[in-house]
Amino acid sequence: MKIGFIGNGGMAQALASKWQHGHQLLLSGRDPQKAVTVAERFGAGHGNAAEAAAFGDVVVLATRWEDVFDAIDQAGGASAFAGKVVIDINNPVDIETFLTTRDDGNSLTEAIQRRLPDAAVGKAFNMAQVAVWEDRDMTYDGRTMVTLFTADRSPAIETIGQLISDTGSEPLHLGGNRHAYQLEAAAAMVIKFLFSGRDPHTIFNFIQPEVKPIR
Ligand SMILES: NC(=O)c1ccc[n+]([C@@H]2O[C@H](COP(=O)([O-])OP(=O)(O)OC[C@H]3O[C@@H](n4cnc5c(N)ncnc54)[C@H](OP(=O)(O)O)[C@@H]3O)[C@@H](O)[C@H]2O)c1
Repeated sequence: MKIGFIGNGGMAQALASKWQHGHQLLLSGRDPQKAVTVAERFGAGHGNAAEAAAFGDVVVLATRWEDVFDAIDQAGGASAFAGKVVIDINNPVDIETFLTTRDDGNSLTEAIQRRLPDAAVGKAFNMAQVAVWEDRDMTYDGRTMVTLFTADRSPAIETIGQLISDTGSEPLHLGGNRHAYQLEAAAAMVIKFLFSGRDPHTIFNFIQPEVKPIR
């Protein structure tokens, strides 16, 4: 797949390290020199947000969550994402209260989908800290980590599931994006524990018989 990243920080780099073999990548950032340096590490192309959106069949929104809509505007707005699968990895979490910041009853993912009506948006990769995605494999305590994700329709469901598998994690489709607020709230719990000093590898894992047979 051709994957464009808007953002080239910690999460973009961790996911790029998982996908650099088998996919074509372009990483973008606001600092052109940093964009070159980071992209070279993964044998990826580099550019700005508009170039990342134009490049990808899949576009990963990997700025800080506060910058997502500005970055979408800089990429060219809704028309730049038409026909693409867009992956929202962002956690709109207030790090004073450890609650999600969406007080309108909708998730950030649904707000992004409204902003990008001709894209197929989904949420994934938000529930584990960047250190987890940097790990060489996704096995913890003898079990493969399950990654819950949401997406409303094909091809986003299949594409995001495949990209999760390509990290070594096991995809589990929670449902459409009306469930995305649950992933955001779950991440808020993880973030609260991390800020209280727990190891960055603190994760929820969804145990299912396919992963660990029930005796
Ligand atoms: N960190 C985690 O453990 C973790 C885990 C799961 C999910 N998340 C979510 O993932 C998202 C990214 O987190 P992160 O830790 O990777 O953040 P980060 O390291 O701060 O990276 C953010 C990146 O966004 C870039 N950026 C900002 N505005 C941009 C624009 N308009 N166009 C292109 N690039 C732009 C920044 O580029 P410049 O450096 O050039 O400004 C920077 O590379 C957050 O929303 C977070 O909630 C994070």
